[in-house]
Amino acid sequence: MARNKLIIANWKMNFDMHQSSIFLHKLSTKIGIYNNIDIILSPSIFTLQSLSLQVNHNQFKLAAQNFYWRDQGAFTGEVAISQLRGIVQYALVGHSERRNIFHESDKDIRAKVAAAIRNDIRPILCIGETSDERNHGETSLVLNDQLVGGLANVSSEDIEKVVIAYEPVWAIGSGDNADPEQVQKAVKMIRTQVKHLYGEKVAKNIQVVYGGSVQPESAVDYMAVPGVDGLLVGGASLNLEKFEQIVQKIDNKVNK
Ligand code: 13P
Repeated sequence: MARNKLIIANWKMNFDMHQSSIFLHKLSTKIGIYNNIDIILSPSIFTLQSLSLQVNHNQFKLAAQNFYWRDQGAFTGEVAISQLRGIVQYALVGHSERRNIFHESDKDIRAKVAAAIRNDIRPILCIGETSDERNHGETSLVLNDQLVGGLANVSSEDIEKVVIAYEPVWAIGSGDNADPEQVQKAVKMIRTQVKHLYGEKVAKNIQVVYGGSVQPESAVDYMAVPGVDGLLVGGASLNLEKFEQIVQKIDNKVNK
C-alpha cells in the first residue's frame, strides 16, 4: 500500500494565539481535504488546545513541538505528552534546535519517542548532520547514531508509527537547502539503517520526510526523490501564500 504523504508545518516559536487562529482559518479556506496527504500543523504548545477545537480534523492534524517524557509528576514548567492526548496526533522529537540549543541527548530523545508511542501519538524523529560532520564524511555515522539512539526503545510492532525526518542542520533556516541528490543519498542511508534494525518490510514502509529551507520552488523536487514521503517546512510554513503553494504543488503531483 502506498504510504500517505506528509506535509508538516513547524511554526517554531512564532504566532500568538490570535495570529495562529487567523492563520489556520485562512489556510483552511485555501486548501482542500486530501485522502492521501496529511497536513500536519505544529504550532506553539500554548495554542494547541484552542486550535484543536477550531480545526477540521479531516483537513489538518496537529503536532506538538516538544513535551516531557514522563506522564505526570513534579516537573515544574513541563508539559507531558499524556496531557496532549486527544489534542495532537503527532509530536516532533529530537529537532536539531532541541538537541543543540536545549542540549537534549539521545537518552532524552529515546525516552520521548517511547513516551509518544505509549500515549498513541506518532513521533516524528528528526535527525541530521551538521556541515562539519558532512565535510568530514561522517553523515552516515551521525544518521546511524541518531537513529539507533532514538529508536532504542521501539519494538518492531511500533516502529511504523514513527516518522523519520531528515533535516540536515546546515540546511535549516539557512536558505542553503540540500540538493535532491544529497537528500536521496541520505534517505537511502536511513532506509538501509532501518533495514538493519527492523528488516526489509519496515525499511520500505516507514515514512521519511525531508526538512531544511523548503520553498514552493523546491517542494516538488524533494517529493520526487525516491524514498521521500513528505516535507517538514519551517519558515515557509509561516507564510500563507508560500505554504498554500507548497500544498497545492504536492497535491498536483500526487493526485493529478
Ligand atoms: P526551515 O524550513 O525554516 O529551514 O526550517 C526547517 C525546520 O527546522 C523544520 O523543522
